[in-house]
Amino acid sequence: MPLLDWLNKPASLQTARLVSYRLLECVPALGYGATPNANLLIQGDNLEALKALLPLYAGRIKCIYIDPPYNTRSAFEHYDDNLEHSQWLSMMYPRLELLRDLLAEDGSLWVSIDDHEGHYLKVMLDEIFGRKNFIANVVWQKKFSPQNDAKWLSDTHDHIHCYAKDKSIWHPNLLPRSLKQEGNFQNPDEDERGVWVSADYTCAKSKDERPNLYYAITNPNTGEEIWPATTRVWAFDRTSHERNVANDLLWWGKTGANSKPRFKKFQTDIQQGTVPVTIWFHQEVGNNQDGRRESLVFNKIEPFSTPKPERLIERILHIATNPGDWVLDSFLGSGTTAAVAHKMGRHYIGVEMGDHAVTHCQPRLQKVVDGEQGGISKAVNWQGGGGFTFCRLGATVFDEYGMIDKAIRFPTLAAYVWYLETRTPWIAPDTLSPLLGIHDSTAYYLLYSGILGDRRPQGGNVLTQTVLDGLPKHPGKRVIYGETSRFGAGRLAAEGITFKQIPYDVRVG
Ligand SMILES: C[S@@+](CC[C@H](N)C(=O)[O-])C[C@H]1O[C@@H](n2cnc3c(N)ncnc32)[C@H](O)[C@@H]1O
Repeated sequence: MPLLDWLNKPASLQTARLVSYRLLECVPALGYGATPNANLLIQGDNLEALKALLPLYAGRIKCIYIDPPYNTRSAFEHYDDNLEHSQWLSMMYPRLELLRDLLAEDGSLWVSIDDHEGHYLKVMLDEIFGRKNFIANVVWQKKFSPQNDAKWLSDTHDHIHCYAKDKSIWHPNLLPRSLKQEGNFQNPDEDERGVWVSADYTCAKSKDERPNLYYAITNPNTGEEIWPATTRVWAFDRTSHERNVANDLLWWGKTGANSKPRFKKFQTDIQQGTVPVTIWFHQEVGNNQDGRRESLVFNKIEPFSTPKPERLIERILHIATNPGDWVLDSFLGSGTTAAVAHKMGRHYIGVEMGDHAVTHCQPRLQKVVDGEQGGISKAVNWQGGGGFTFCRLGATVFDEYGMIDKAIRFPTLAAYVWYLETRTPWIAPDTLSPLLGIHDSTAYYLLYSGILGDRRPQGGNVLTQTVLDGLPKHPGKRVIYGETSRFGAGRLAAEGITFKQIPYDVRVG
């Protein structure tokens, strides 16, 4: 497969692996609402934030929407968008790798971008997600009137690249029918099966003549014999046609004298909703001006020129998620994705490095919790409720010498060890135990920080016979992390134990 190359690409391929793990530190004063632990608003650089999220959220996020800086130099005011082309690509590559690892197997990624980097980004996404997982390049009409002072062509659309983590198992939700589409369903013959639309009863004649589809049909109202036009055939063979007649599925028009029958398709038989198309007009999903207006309701200081309209994000979340799913936006801006996810009953994680995490996102989400009625609120009947936790990036888990920070508690290290071994997130149990869990028939144990109740230095962190006797039993392979082991290699092998030493064997790549 042809790959994109740029200055410093080799280094950017290593960035995600090398960036250090940091802790997320809660800022209780900025969290809000009744259940402040489900949703997360993180202030910080998303490279480190995404890495910090991996041990807890890898493979759990159903939909990622991002709207990164477009690298247009002039478009934004609140961050340095003056990244050169290569720098921009180097910025995006490791972040997209981390995002891919956070995505659920049946999840999808959606990225807003314009023409400056959109096509380079497409090739990069092909490399990271695989060309076979490309779903679509949605064209969103972001402006509705031409810019007559444009020097060349007036730019009126953005791209939204959509990729599945695994296209073979990803399915879009259908979109609700528009009122216009609903209006096409009628019931002029008062059929008790409900409203219907009439469809053509013929189809084009193919090269092989299909004589079984070419026969005379009698109009029951006039007695006239009807044949398909010479270039066409009936859509049904004679047996199916007779079944259609018996089931009252032919429509001859209001007077019953139409010379060609049509086929009645009932709304109840047609899939509920329409398949999403790849062009989204501003009348359906809003435009840049709507986004700007909506964000000004939350903060009179203009955030940037392009907050996205809530209806645009609603469309994406409708297609890609169901209530209760996790949504992530790591370039949160004014907080649109989090606000929409909240109103739609999805869980969310939003990451924003600018001050506007505090000046825009936090107050916006607080208003959402209180039942704010802008954006999509009325359409989704939003009444308020829920809450969110506000975090910033804290200390690194490992210092520059590879030692574990003294502040690290058992659950944090447990999540890292579990992720290192299984590449799945660790869900902390109500009662902590040195047995972290069993994965693929192997049990993983962590002896750390006095988990066994002995608070003396190293107490309980060393694998001794007494400690081993006290560990929850497992008949198969066991992997035990601890400070040191009193057992020799032969004894460990005989017990089916792989011993790993903290901190040297805890290197999460
Ligand atoms: C185009 S704006 C997103 C607008 C957003 N979709 C909305 O509706 O408001 C991009 C945002 O990404 C943020 N950003 C840029 N680089 C970042 C990084 N490395 N980590 C976290 N946020 C970043 C910027 O501060 C900016 O707020």
